[in-house]
Amino acid sequence: MTHDDQLVLDARGVRKRYAGGPQTVLVLDGVGLQLRAAESLAITGASGSGKSTLLHLLGGLDQADDGSIEVCGQAWRDMSPAQQGRWRNRHVGFVYQFHHLLPEFSALDNVMMPLRIRRMPAAEARREAGSMLEQVGLGERLRHRPAELSGGERQRVALARALVTRPALLLADEPTGNLDADSADRVFELLAGMAREHGSAMVLVTHDAQLAARCGRTLRLQHASLQEAGPAA
Ligand SMILES: Nc1ncnc2c1ncn2[C@@H]1O[C@H](COP(=O)(O)OP(=O)(O)O)[C@@H](O)[C@H]1O
Ligand SMILES: [Mg+2]
Repeated sequence: MTHDDQLVLDARGVRKRYAGGPQTVLVLDGVGLQLRAAESLAITGASGSGKSTLLHLLGGLDQADDGSIEVCGQAWRDMSPAQQGRWRNRHVGFVYQFHHLLPEFSALDNVMMPLRIRRMPAAEARREAGSMLEQVGLGERLRHRPAELSGGERQRVALARALVTRPALLLADEPTGNLDADSADRVFELLAGMAREHGSAMVLVTHDAQLAARCGRTLRLQHASLQEAGPAA
């Protein structure tokens, strides 16, 4: 499948406020961003600035109060929850700071999961998942459970799971935030390399200015909007 030149991600005028707590918080106030295939974008910003909220909205896991978010030409708002689930499985891969692997399943079974959800036959899913785990250097760890892996290895399994479906859009929320410098570097290299290879567009939330600098563009989330990241203030 080619992703052509069309926009993989097209977000416009996105607003999000959290109400219902002691105070209403306006987290995003008219955020827009566009990404094409194979482009990478880093988003930085202080803790609490709304980075995770934005990624959730981009991935259709939560609803914006206003604005529109299209992934591969289809707006989340126009889909039923079931359609959103299928669209997400088809087009979006997520990586989080904590791996969110299923603890009772092996690395191989965890990586097979998104393929089984889209009803790929087990033998084929096992083959694809195994090859993806080899690509992240874990060909010798297929039967290990998350608890039997190091932090960096767990995160590489999470990468394999996010990429096994060859998503057009990869959303990564501080994927290296919990790792030592060497593991962080390896995970970032794999993430960026595999995204490039598959032509996935990537949004990477990171605190790490050096990792951000290795993405095509960097935007800073500040005062509820996205701004060009100038020289460090
Ligand atoms: N479910 C929620 N209900 C109410 N407020 C929330 C919720 N999730 C996040 N917030 C608030 O929204 C702001 C942005 O949070 P978040 O997107 O997690 O920031 P970041 O990922 O940049 O640290 C914070 O002030 C947080 O307290
Ligand atoms: Mg966050």
